Amino acid sequence: MKILILNASPKPLGTISQMLKFLEDEIRRKNPSAEIENIRVSSLKFSACTGCMKCRSCGKCVFAGDDADVAGEKIASADFLVVASPCWWGNMTGSLKSLFDRNVFRLMGESKHGIPLALLKGKEAAIVTACTTPFPFNVICRQSPGVFSSIGEILKSAGIKITAKICASGTKQKPGLTMSRKRKIVKVAKKI
Ligand SMILES: Cc1cc2nc3c(=O)[nH]c(=O)nc-3n(C[C@H](O)[C@H](O)[C@H](O)COP(=O)(O)O)c2cc1C
Repeated sequence: MKILILNASPKPLGTISQMLKFLEDEIRRKNPSAEIENIRVSSLKFSACTGCMKCRSCGKCVFAGDDADVAGEKIASADFLVVASPCWWGNMTGSLKSLFDRNVFRLMGESKHGIPLALLKGKEAAIVTACTTPFPFNVICRQSPGVFSSIGEILKSAGIKITAKICASGTKQKPGLTMSRKRKIVKVAKKI
């Protein structure tokens, strides 16, 4: 089983990175043969999508060969994706969104009438997020739900089934790996 972790937090010791390290350790403990790769999205070097739409007809990006393209191949070949992003403006980070923009042709096709066609059916994913707004205001103010729905929209358009969501709220008061965050991660690791 190939598991790809996309970590959109630029902070190597931030809450998301600590949660992902714990999740990775849990997965390895439960499933020692799992092949796990971790990509730090903010350190990828790539050009933003120009919207030229050439990828839709020729099946590759005009910037083929850069880091976004290599990461896209890994997304397409993984069995399970862990997509993790801190909440930035009630959404995923810009770098993660740009990575998905660059790989639209791998995730979603189009019928001749423009109807979206999911290209990654059969894969599963978990979404992980963190925000400073404490519960329940992170939900009432659409902070964490904004991240889940924006990432979820892309994954669902690709036909990827979302099997788990992990949210760390109130990180200003409680940063890092708390007991309750560990408990949530242990539950999710069991499903992978
Ligand atoms: C540009 C930017 C925008 C942010 N926007 C929000 C936001 O809309 N809501 C929120 O609760 N926290 C927001 N935050 C705070 C982060 O979500 C919070 O610090 C989170 O715990 C970061 O996780 P990390 O340390 O794992 O990267 C923002 C932070 C940055 C840098």
